[in-house]
Amino acid sequence: MSTKKLKAGLIGCGNIGSLYDEGLIQRESVIDHSPITHASALIKSPNTELVAICDSNANRLKTCGVARSIENQYADFAEMLSKEKIDLLCIATHPAPYSEILKLAGKAGIRRILLEKPAADTAQGIEELARISKEFKQLVAVNYLRNWYPATVSLKSEIESRTLGQPIHVHINYDKGLLNNGTHALALIQYLIGLDQFQSTDAASDPEHAYGSDRTWSFRAQISHKGSIAKITSCAFDYRKFSIFELDFVFEFARVRFTEFGTKIRIDNIRPDHEHTEYKVFTPRSRIIDAHSTAFTNAIHNISTAQGESELNFSIQDSIPLLKSVELIQNSENRNGLNL
Ligand SMILES: NC(=O)c1ccc[n+]([C@@H]2O[C@H](COP(=O)([O-])OP(=O)(O)OC[C@H]3O[C@@H](n4cnc5c(N)ncnc54)[C@H](O)[C@@H]3O)[C@@H](O)[C@H]2O)c1
Repeated sequence: MSTKKLKAGLIGCGNIGSLYDEGLIQRESVIDHSPITHASALIKSPNTELVAICDSNANRLKTCGVARSIENQYADFAEMLSKEKIDLLCIATHPAPYSEILKLAGKAGIRRILLEKPAADTAQGIEELARISKEFKQLVAVNYLRNWYPATVSLKSEIESRTLGQPIHVHINYDKGLLNNGTHALALIQYLIGLDQFQSTDAASDPEHAYGSDRTWSFRAQISHKGSIAKITSCAFDYRKFSIFELDFVFEFARVRFTEFGTKIRIDNIRPDHEHTEYKVFTPRSRIIDAHSTAFTNAIHNISTAQGESELNFSIQDSIPLLKSVELIQNSENRNGLNL
């Protein structure tokens, strides 16, 4: 890409927008930590320059502006989008204002947008965003952070080259809501092996584990992958006890686990046991991949350089089957007596 940086704007300076690493900036040079927020990633990326920020909460806006030395601060996104010349927009509020922001951004000629997940609460909401982005010829990516790891991208190539064999079973352990956290797991499954012919056979959730109105479902489901069926199971945990996010993919010849809140990837090869040849055993590959640190950098690189929707790691269009799967899970409540 040319040396001219894209002018970037940020709407939503809360946790993932800015707050998570504001403390780190005060303790060390901004150069020295891996970005874990949109603001840091936009400042550190060689492709972008953060020129304006917006938050309707005056305190949040001011604190972010001071921490990041950004003078152009707006309480109202309509005002920011009409006054600033912006090429790339990150949106990290909650989903309610996304469609209005996308339309105003479209009218302001902003073509590159990174939206926080899950982008909408329903498939219909995502379809509306996809329609707007098409109307304004925008490239819109959704920020499922674990999909941006280089290790996830190379895993996808390995799966496609069939060296791991067919996927047999995926198990998810998670908490804090199917929309909020469960979609991270479903987005990884979709990215790596697809959600073709997703069917949810049963689901159950304890309203007491809900994250606000977002219930955390245990479910049993299946997908079709290159002509064979892979099972998906999930176990919903109560977030008030502890925090968990794990995915365990079992393929014919390997097992891939996203552990430690999905920040580490462990791969085991599966081979016949030497003594008991009727059994298969797992043998660890030597390295545990620490994947977390590059995710935000890769997200900004992808949205700032993609030439078309097919180059986006996870587009708004990709979110339609994802949210349809969420609805199929919610609609299969207690169909076959799944116990929690
Ligand atoms: N990708 C990830 O790993 C990840 C991690 C955390 C959160 N998230 C997602 O990011 C989104 C935000 O989560 P959060 O924890 O940062 O929330 P938050 O409440 O900390 O931050 C949201 C910010 O947006 C501001 N805001 C809300 N409506 C606004 C509006 N109309 N105009 C301007 N500002 C507005 C709020 O004042 C707040 O400061 C959620 O959708 C969440 O699911 C994603």
